[in-house]
Amino acid sequence: MKWTQDMAVGIETIDEQHKELFKRISGLLQAIREHRCKSEIDDTIKFLDDYARFHFSEEEKRMREAGYDGLEDHRKHHAVYLNNIKELKELAAQPRIQGASYELSVTTNQVVVDWIVDHIMKIDRKFGEYMKGRR
Ligand SMILES: [Fe+2]
Repeated sequence: MKWTQDMAVGIETIDEQHKELFKRISGLLQAIREHRCKSEIDDTIKFLDDYARFHFSEEEKRMREAGYDGLEDHRKHHAVYLNNIKELKELAAQPRIQGASYELSVTTNQVVVDWIVDHIMKIDRKFGEYMKGRR
């Protein structure tokens, strides 16, 4: 998966962080695809989780500074994602049976990939529009 220009929010730091997020998600999908060992997958999920937290706090900080009234709602969306990652962690922690990596990649696609694309397109871009209007 790759970040594309139509996902641009128009705030450089945020867009750069989104690209990095996509890189990390791709890294996870690749690790699953290549049937890497459990500890490696766990590390990749943690790496993704840490970066998402860092990125969300950056976004929320900017919204707070801008006096954006969509902040509370946006925070709730971010919380859903962090919860999705938590579920993914739990799924990855289960003993590997046949087909487990297939299930893990399907879940990753649903709760991470689909979520992030939808969130950027609908929710983050709204904030981008708001910031454009202020300039
Ligand atoms: Fe966001």
